[in-house]
Amino acid sequence: LFAPERANSKGFDLYDPADIARIDAARTPFKDAQWTAAPLLAEERDDPERKALAIANPARPDDAVGTVHEAAQADIESALAAAAPWTASAAARAETLNRAADLYEENFGELFAIITREAGKITEDAIAELREAADFLRYYASQALTDPDAEPCGTFACVSPWNFPLAIFTGQIAAALAAGNAVIAKPAEATPLIAHRAVRLMHEAGVPRTALQLLPGTGATVGAAITSDPRIDGVCFTGSTGTAQAINRAMADALDPAAPLIAETGGINAMIVDSTALPEQAVRDIIVSAFRSAGQRCSALRVLYLQEDIAEPFMKMLFGAMDELAVADPWALSTDVGPVIDEKARDEITAYIDAAEKAGKLLKRLAIPEGGTFVSPAVIRVSGIAEVTREVFGPVLHVATFRASEIGKVCAAINATGYGLTFGLHTRIDDRVEEIASAIHAGNIYVNRNQIGAIVGSQPFGGEGLSGTGPKAGGPLYVPRFRKTETVSQPA
Ligand code: NAD
Ligand code: ALA
Repeated sequence: LFAPERANSKGFDLYDPADIARIDAARTPFKDAQWTAAPLLAEERDDPERKALAIANPARPDDAVGTVHEAAQADIESALAAAAPWTASAAARAETLNRAADLYEENFGELFAIITREAGKITEDAIAELREAADFLRYYASQALTDPDAEPCGTFACVSPWNFPLAIFTGQIAAALAAGNAVIAKPAEATPLIAHRAVRLMHEAGVPRTALQLLPGTGATVGAAITSDPRIDGVCFTGSTGTAQAINRAMADALDPAAPLIAETGGINAMIVDSTALPEQAVRDIIVSAFRSAGQRCSALRVLYLQEDIAEPFMKMLFGAMDELAVADPWALSTDVGPVIDEKARDEITAYIDAAEKAGKLLKRLAIPEGGTFVSPAVIRVSGIAEVTREVFGPVLHVATFRASEIGKVCAAINATGYGLTFGLHTRIDDRVEEIASAIHAGNIYVNRNQIGAIVGSQPFGGEGLSGTGPKAGGPLYVPRFRKTETVSQPA
């Protein structure tokens, strides 16, 4: 389990004028560029059956970012037939993955431009995406060496979401490749352009085309086909809980013998702030946890439990901090909150906020720019987490209050959602930290800080219950899940 020493990516510091100048110089040439995504197959082929779709910038619908040519049935068949595990030594695989991390970093300007224009992510998020992607590549490269003779499972289908279109897309692939598997990767419908560019960089680094193929397309066509094909030996999925359940059922019906499913899914994440918390710090961490990435993180804070005694002045401070948020085009460095991913998401979340307003539960709603798929960061009053019956995947914070004597009940209500991804706690009472952390069922618990942005190698990330199967991404148990293990016993 112990991997060689390795350093996480250095990233960029947006408080450093030299770094800002570097970012500007590197990404400006890509401000109006367009990209193409298409299947990347071991055996190159063209297919008139491929459907071509335009990809536009969620913040500016008139900004054409590129075109995706979605995989046709024959592309799917070709990828499944040609997939072949990566037979290079563990050391050679590690070297190639490390080279891919270097190539990602060298191409930061282009990658930042695609992430921002295709996924609507602010620059700070684009920086975090690239860092995390490079960290996954290097961390899993180091993990390849922990058991160099282990056998891979075979071929993995890797299916990823749009909200971490580079980091999670890359992390799944890197782990499967580190263990020597072949990968057929399906990116989310909304973000094929960054996925295509990433796979080309991995090929350029030396990953064989038989070991890594890309099939852009929908979940219903490409996703369902590759996760239930008998030639698949495992599925690595990140996305909503409902999709993970559908894949699980399809795999159970179609695959014999059973193949592993690694699923990282959603959450209804809570934070408890008691009356001993430092209000300025808690407010800052709530703003980051609930509204960073426009609330489109699986880890994001959804339900804040605030001790009744401090609620009034605390909410005043929170609303004041919200008023400082710049909701705008994510290309601008001053933007804090960009758009949500598409019109469907915007309309659904906006309708949810409107319904809360009608019910007299809306406490705060910010103004948003014209055009684009922006959603007002909003705060909604609830009596408790049970009132939040689904993951609202946007900048919406629910707030409930509690009395000191009710902490046990609050923890039970949080656990009763069945999810268990992240949980935040702000308190200055040491015993309370221990008591609550052991009562709450969540994969990642954060105390006196924000609850997003797990760091690869230091904070293995993943939930329990409806939030995922484990093992945690970016931790030492992840790559072993992509390997076969055999126990050989003989008498002494
Ligand atoms: P989603 O479930 O709609 O889609 C995820 C992927 O699955 C996409 O590539 C989609 O095309 C594919 N897909 C859809 N139906 C499929 C099917 N029947 N068979 C195979 N593949 C199918 O999720 P999303 O909207 O892209 O992402 C947001 C969700 O992801 C949120 O619920 C969020 O909490 C979750 N998420 C979890 C983590 C984590 O680490 N736990 C990280 C990021 C996002
Ligand atoms: N790893 C991501 C986070 O922690 C999902 O926010």
